Amino acid sequence: MKIIEVKDYTEMSRKAAEYIIDKVCHNPKIKLGLATGGTPIGTYKNLIEDHKKKGTSYQDVTTFNLDEYVGLSGDNKNSYRYFMDEQLFNHIDINKSKTNVPRGDIINFEAECLRYEDLIEKHGGIDLQILGIGSNGHIGFNEPGTSFNSNTHMVELAQSTINANARFFNRIEEVPTKAITMGISSILKSKEILLLVSGENKKEALFKLLNGEINESFPASVLKKHPCVTIIADKAAVAGLKVHC
Ligand code: GLP
Repeated sequence: MKIIEVKDYTEMSRKAAEYIIDKVCHNPKIKLGLATGGTPIGTYKNLIEDHKKKGTSYQDVTTFNLDEYVGLSGDNKNSYRYFMDEQLFNHIDINKSKTNVPRGDIINFEAECLRYEDLIEKHGGIDLQILGIGSNGHIGFNEPGTSFNSNTHMVELAQSTINANARFFNRIEEVPTKAITMGISSILKSKEILLLVSGENKKEALFKLLNGEINESFPASVLKKHPCVTIIADKAAVAGLKVHC
């Protein structure tokens, strides 16, 4: 794992966007794995700004999002489909039919998980996966205890995740308790991974990732098994950590 330490959230977002833009320019048909949550919002803002100013094109790019809440349709403001449209897709020249988010509003979730996993495979896999990290070490919505062999699957969200994500909803009771997420194995199949970590509340998770054992009780630890992971972390998340990569 390679770690790039930056000053703050603004710099992390700028660096991450530069990283992604460089990959898109080298491979206009790149398959990008995308994340939601507060962490990548600044990165997406930078991608939009660059697209408007410099014209980087996403016309041939295909995207796969990590996860979606169960029970929310794409027109629900709290769905991750809505989030992605608002935060990125509506502002760049991407072909919406090439943007993929698991469906949270269907009845047969088993079939949806298989369809999504299959879709990624049919496209030849993800070239670059963007990841955030939960304070309990979750990646995507793979909560502690998730098998490292898991493919796209349905999960029960940990109470700490529900609490953390309640800030996006009017009331905590509105936060769905289940989600569909790419599995750990699905994520690990990506050719390259870019993990973004910002803020003091992620410090402990980053410490565990860098210094702890590889263990299913801390999902992000599996990233140590991947041959090509870059972490961009800001000072608040790194502060005082001895970084061994
Ligand atoms: C959320 C998402 C993850 C995200 C993580 C951190 O629940 N499912 O994909 O990386 O938790 O979120 P945030 O960036 O808001 O801290």
